[in-house]
Amino acid sequence: MYEDRIRNASLRDRVISADEAAAFFQDGMTVGMSGFTRAGDAKEVPLALAERSKRLGRPIRINLWTGASVAEEVDRALTEAGCLARRLPYQSEKLLRDAINRGEVMYLDQHLSLTVEMIRDGQLGNLDIAVIEAVAITEDGGIIPSTSVGNSPTFVKMADKVIIELNYGQPAALEGMHDVYIPIDRPNREPIPILEVGDRIGTPYIPVDMDKVAGIVITNKLDHFSPVSPVDEETEAIAGHLLDFFEHEIRAGRMTDSLHPLQSGIGSVANAVLSGLKKSRFENLEMYSEVLQDSVFELIDSGKLRYASGCSITLSPARAKDVLDRIADYRDKIVLRPQEISNHPGLVRRLGIIAMNTAIEADIYGNVNSTHVMGTKMMNGIGGSGDFARNAYITIFVTKSTAKNGAISSIVPMASHVDHTEHDVDILVTEQGLADLRGLAPRERAQVIIRNCAHPYYRDALMDYYRDALKLGGHTPHVLDQALSWHSRFMKEGSMRIPVVEHR
Ligand code: COA
Repeated sequence: MYEDRIRNASLRDRVISADEAAAFFQDGMTVGMSGFTRAGDAKEVPLALAERSKRLGRPIRINLWTGASVAEEVDRALTEAGCLARRLPYQSEKLLRDAINRGEVMYLDQHLSLTVEMIRDGQLGNLDIAVIEAVAITEDGGIIPSTSVGNSPTFVKMADKVIIELNYGQPAALEGMHDVYIPIDRPNREPIPILEVGDRIGTPYIPVDMDKVAGIVITNKLDHFSPVSPVDEETEAIAGHLLDFFEHEIRAGRMTDSLHPLQSGIGSVANAVLSGLKKSRFENLEMYSEVLQDSVFELIDSGKLRYASGCSITLSPARAKDVLDRIADYRDKIVLRPQEISNHPGLVRRLGIIAMNTAIEADIYGNVNSTHVMGTKMMNGIGGSGDFARNAYITIFVTKSTAKNGAISSIVPMASHVDHTEHDVDILVTEQGLADLRGLAPRERAQVIIRNCAHPYYRDALMDYYRDALKLGGHTPHVLDQALSWHSRFMKEGSMRIPVVEHR
């Protein structure tokens, strides 16, 4: 049994059920699970843990580390069962988000490239168990990951016990797509030898000490595919402004038709931009990004994209079957890396990445909030946006100019939480237009952002705020007792709109 996927004969007798695996977990343990943007995540063992907690009538509380978000049903089941004491480094599930915002789950919202450095340095404590999804186990016991690599190599290296979820639902042809590399410890680390987007520097499997393999759970479940938000008028306008900007850079002689390697967050705007690239005249494009979604495969199919490096493949229900059935055809055009390499600040700087990520809000000086609604409530997390934003060749943030049917302006006097400072943001884009902030001082940035990016409804009020601030002076002028008044107004009145009587 399982000879096809467990190629090391001595490991075949370690097959156990998910319930047997769940029995290894004890209160207070720290667990590292595979999974990045709902791809390649552990699927059965976490659910069995939630069930075991329910049967016991008390939660087995764990600290859960992952690559990034996992299937909604996993975070939901663990939250409902009360199993999550602490969670890092990223999540995007509603029930968990609410538990975090009630203070019931302690959440560490981390730069995604950084978590494993802290784990390997022992800064986050001991890792008791790693649960890793695989498509196969090699003759030497190496783990072939599935649709993501994420933080799994370090989880496997550092955990006391390793449980492998061997998933027959994932294509065996994923083998050969991964490039697993763990940099040597600091302070004597050598340069990471990636000089081009497609360079391979590691092994196609995760090395594992076979004595640590406590069990292999056989599963047969597809990833939790994520629907792609359709392009709408506003996201199409944002994409249009960005494509015009790229043309401008080519005309200025700063880029060629191949642009620079692209990084893109996921979501509706990212989808619109990548769809726009498909129709553009740009060619021989490269991606050095985190998540490879539908549009990446479409760009490869259309001949526009030469090579894509990422750390996970996250597909929509509409495209998943087609892409996974033909995954072997993409093996020479795609590499999946650990997230510390796909998001490595040094490599992002070296390769000259164009980074495109989404803001919740930005202020008139270009500080960006990507995580906190009204400055207090966690949405998802910073994800990899900071890894890229601080180090990219050009750092772009996009957002619609308003949210909640116009009740919220995404351009505000002062950001209510800052993930990306004005020092990191080169270009800000809304459906209204694009603000090129390069080379501008704060007083200049404010005018360009208000003029080009704010919604017309809020433009005059922002300009009034800015003029009042100018009277008080300063390098970055503010009226401190007014700076967050737009947010307070929304909290009290359900809208940032200024009543007509107040509006000069
Ligand atoms: N104030 C309050 N809520 C806002 C808002 C604002 N200024 N701007 C957007 N929102 C709300 C939207 O109304 C929507 O709410 P809903 O889920 O209740 O409908 C939600 O935020 C998502 O907004 P949407 O416009 O659909 O954009 P999105 O799905 O692209 O998500 C982020 C935007 C910022 C939340 C998301 O991109 C994110 O979590 N980014 C941080 C991590 C990251 O950048 N990852 C990629 C790096 S590699």
